Amino acid sequence: MFQHTLLCLAFISVATQSFVIAHGGHGHKIRRRYFQDWSQPHDHSVNKLFKRGGDGAQYPEVGSSDWAAKYPPANGKTPDQSLTPKEWLDALNVAVAAGTIPAVDRTTIPRNSAGDVTGAPVYPKNQDPTGPGICSATYQCRAADDVWDGPDGTFAISFDDGPLPSTSILVDFLKQNNEIATHFMIGANVRNNPQRFLDVFNYGGDCAVHTWSHPYMTSLSNEDIVAELGWTMQIIHDSTGGKVPKMWRPPTGDADVRVRAIAKEVFGLKTVIWNRDSADWRISLGQQTLDGVNSDMDKWLTGPKTPGLVVLEHELTNLTVQGFTGNYPKIKSNGWNTKSLAQLFGDAYQNVNGDQVTPASVNHQASGNALLNTTSDSVSSTTTTSQTISSVATSTPRTATVTTSSSSGTSTSSSSNKTNSNSALPSNMFSQWFAAIFASTLIISLS
Ligand SMILES: *[C@@H]1O[C@H](CO)[C@@H](O)[C@H](O)[C@H]1NC(C)=O
Ligand SMILES: *[C@@H]1O[C@H](CO)[C@@H](O)[C@H](O)[C@H]1NC(C)=O
Ligand SMILES: *[C@@H]1O[C@H](CO)[C@@H](O)[C@H](O)[C@H]1NC(C)=O
Repeated sequence: MFQHTLLCLAFISVATQSFVIAHGGHGHKIRRRYFQDWSQPHDHSVNKLFKRGGDGAQYPEVGSSDWAAKYPPANGKTPDQSLTPKEWLDALNVAVAAGTIPAVDRTTIPRNSAGDVTGAPVYPKNQDPTGPGICSATYQCRAADDVWDGPDGTFAISFDDGPLPSTSILVDFLKQNNEIATHFMIGANVRNNPQRFLDVFNYGGDCAVHTWSHPYMTSLSNEDIVAELGWTMQIIHDSTGGKVPKMWRPPTGDADVRVRAIAKEVFGLKTVIWNRDSADWRISLGQQTLDGVNSDMDKWLTGPKTPGLVVLEHELTNLTVQGFTGNYPKIKSNGWNTKSLAQLFGDAYQNVNGDQVTPASVNHQASGNALLNTTSDSVSSTTTTSQTISSVATSTPRTATVTTSSSSGTSTSSSSNKTNSNSALPSNMFSQWFAAIFASTLIISLS
């Protein structure tokens, strides 16, 4: 406890500084692709789940205390069931009754006595995770509707775990190079870093879902899966003038037929995995280096163009961002066609078609003002505090026990094999830890 508090204090100056510098360069042209408010037609499928402005929904100014109060705490936990809107559970129950949500047993996550994850999620009764009844993406089983590969010749740009302080340098780079990325966001990090969220939204980045607290989704109940996805969609929806995300990426790549079906049938979400893991998320753990990322990228970028590359990368720290920005010239010089996932696979939002944004016919005044003000240099104290906290989380060294061998022997990778680019298995197992630490430091610093 005490140690954490000290760390928080130690990082305050760093976080403040990075904020100021990040906002020094507002001369760039800002994309305003999705600038205006949006509301779906009343008969749109998402309309019951996410109320349109004017239909009883209020969109307080992003980053305000009214705004933050609408969402579950960012405490590293799945949002409490008592908070779940009835409409989401009704939709789940309808889908279950219709037989569209397979009944798959929940996994357990192997941990050592220190609580570190020591292996991949395990299904009870020795069930085969690669069989059609489970089809676990952790065990490399691809479902028909998943995205794993890009179209030939394409490099799909995406980042997980933001928004965080390092999002600023990433967004500046993307704007300078006229690129759009897909940002798989942790809902709790949106709540903690509203200004960084708006940076992404305002340049036209795809706001996609990476759950509220970054759990192993196959280990959760149906209701908790609904809460993890629903609240992340809700905070993105309310903070973008009413846009409903269309894509999600499971934390650590962990999804099976039950999890995918809830995402799709209840929330209309498309499941996106990856086909190369830069392992950039291991840099903070001392288990990967920028050089290591670069040499993997060299190999992939000079390799075959079939299929296209979907590289797992993170906006966790400046170094992980460099894993992309430093390699960007090579991506271009090797002739890859750079696109966001929404540009490759359809729209970023369920109720917005491409660049065709129809202004809402309802009163979105509060949200409109918030969006018009997003280039301002002012930031609420909440934001500054949370950025400090996030810096602590991503800078805290931790020697982790990483053993990803699975008991079933179907594992295709091990943590020591950084060149095993196709595996979702080691993936970002410790991002769960990052998310948990964000939250615990938040509690500590506020209490
Ligand atoms: C990240 O980069 C920004 C911009 O160059 C810099 O201001 C900030 O101090 C860096 N953060 C860390 C933790 O090094
Ligand atoms: C910015 O916000 C202030 C108050 O929050 C509001 O009065 C002003 O109209 C906004 N600016 C724009 C350009 O909407
Ligand atoms: C890493 O894994 C790949 C695929 O399983 C294998 O071909 C390669 O030899 C492994 N490399 C190391 C260093 O173990």
